[in-house]
Amino acid sequence: MTNNTAPHPMQASLTARPAWKALDAHSQAMRQVHLRQLFAEDPRRGERLAVEAAGFYLDYSKNRITDETIRLLLQLAQECGLRERIDAMFSGQKINVTEQRAVLHTALRAAKDERVMVDGVDVVPEVHAVLDRMAAFCRQVRSGHWTGHTGKRIRHVVNIGIGGSDLGPAMACQALRHYSQRNLDFRFVSNVDGTDFAEAVHDLAPEETLFIICSKTFTTLETLTNARTARAWCLAKLGDEKAVRRHFVAVSTNAAEVSKFGIDTANMFGFWDWVGGRYSMESAIGLSTMLAIGPEQFREMLSGFHAMDRHFRSTPFERNLPVLMGLLTVWYTNFFDANTVAVLPYEQYLARFPAYLQQLAMESNGKHVTLDGAPVDYQTSPIYWGEPGTNGQHSFYQLIHQGTRLVPCDFIGFVQPLNPLEHHHDQLIANLLAQTEALAFGKTEQEVRADGTPDRLAPHRVFEGNRPTNTLLGERLTPQSLGSLVALYEHSVFTQGVIWNIDSFDQWGVELGKALAQRTIPELESAQEPQLAHDSSTNTLIRRYRLLRRRD
Ligand code: F6P
Repeated sequence: MTNNTAPHPMQASLTARPAWKALDAHSQAMRQVHLRQLFAEDPRRGERLAVEAAGFYLDYSKNRITDETIRLLLQLAQECGLRERIDAMFSGQKINVTEQRAVLHTALRAAKDERVMVDGVDVVPEVHAVLDRMAAFCRQVRSGHWTGHTGKRIRHVVNIGIGGSDLGPAMACQALRHYSQRNLDFRFVSNVDGTDFAEAVHDLAPEETLFIICSKTFTTLETLTNARTARAWCLAKLGDEKAVRRHFVAVSTNAAEVSKFGIDTANMFGFWDWVGGRYSMESAIGLSTMLAIGPEQFREMLSGFHAMDRHFRSTPFERNLPVLMGLLTVWYTNFFDANTVAVLPYEQYLARFPAYLQQLAMESNGKHVTLDGAPVDYQTSPIYWGEPGTNGQHSFYQLIHQGTRLVPCDFIGFVQPLNPLEHHHDQLIANLLAQTEALAFGKTEQEVRADGTPDRLAPHRVFEGNRPTNTLLGERLTPQSLGSLVALYEHSVFTQGVIWNIDSFDQWGVELGKALAQRTIPELESAQEPQLAHDSSTNTLIRRYRLLRRRD
């Protein structure tokens, strides 16, 4: 261990902590309490249980909590050392203990005059140097000064990457499309399924296309396979190896592999091992985002991240948005047996936000052992999922309203529309508000009968209510507010991980499948019948695949 390694004291088991036990007892009582009662008892509840920061207003009053719940959750945060863990993260301690790495995505959005030390080096100047190089490159492409091999202007940008090297930029490019330069078009290829690449380029001309190969490690199977295919596709038309220089740039921490692939490292934008893949959308991995919205608006996005970072780091926990949201997730996951969190953006541009959050939350906190390697005896990350409103209302909301499971929901909306077509926006937001109201208060049998509903239908039309929701309201979706929103969830996920005493920054769970795939690829491809040594199910499936594949 280096001196810089974050201490993670042999903790008492989480479930033995006084606050945990108190929450356990308190939750038994709270299960009997209805939100109708809580609102009736406190007419100001809706104003009181709300906090505001970095452009977002969080109404958390429609949660199954009392002041006592919050007091106990805050006590739990304190017993788990949340304050110390936040300081450890921001100050560059190696809190990713299994990989012995600092976790400093917050340094990516630090202002130029801040200092963030990693192993005795201030990393902020390096961060800004890369941002400046990205900005210069983006200006050239956006203005048409960077041309393709034949001298034609770049019109299409294809980002090739997967996981954190895809989901963040893909989400951000879509979220900020309103602010993007429309004569450039952006596509994202991630899947090793050839269809992904084929469909992405089927109407493109190589001479007008720029590929960004994004991979932190530059060893990821899917990305390298797609990148090789892209190079072959490009050269098939352009003929000349020199074309690669004008049509391929790389984003990576691994200059050696980039160069081995054939991309000039002069066309590489770097980042650092202290940036996790799923926390990298504002690093050079965001090159496509910067190409889309331009360097100035990209900096605005960084300032939004930074505003939420400052809030998270310095605001007392009882008014701290990410802390409150993280603790509420712990509350439902561990004390109400909730298995999922639905994230429901009432903003079409955020259509990919739930998918982005899935990696952020589930790759971070889907863990089964503590920092010390001891098995946990409590649930960790819930499953995050969601779709934009109002579409979900006509599909899965039925289960949220009347199903047998508790599904805590985050509703996200903005006051100002980006496309103000008459009536649309007020209808959209009316639906958001109506859903949270219906979920909280439901409709009693008495109310149903009072509507004249016949006896046999009455039970079907009852809404139990008491379904918890957060409402996040921003003024307008902008680069800045997107940055704040993403940082809010990053820190909420961090808060959950601290309580669960897990390493939120490694991802060992993806390794086994990768290794088995590497072993299986030659077994599918070889001309000779392979010696198979898997289980009988996998062996049979491989034989069947080989047989049918050859018939084609
Ligand atoms: O397999 C999981 C993972 O390592 C993610 O954590 C990461 O975002 C993704 O693969 C892509 O990795 P890379 O950027 O190194 O290609």
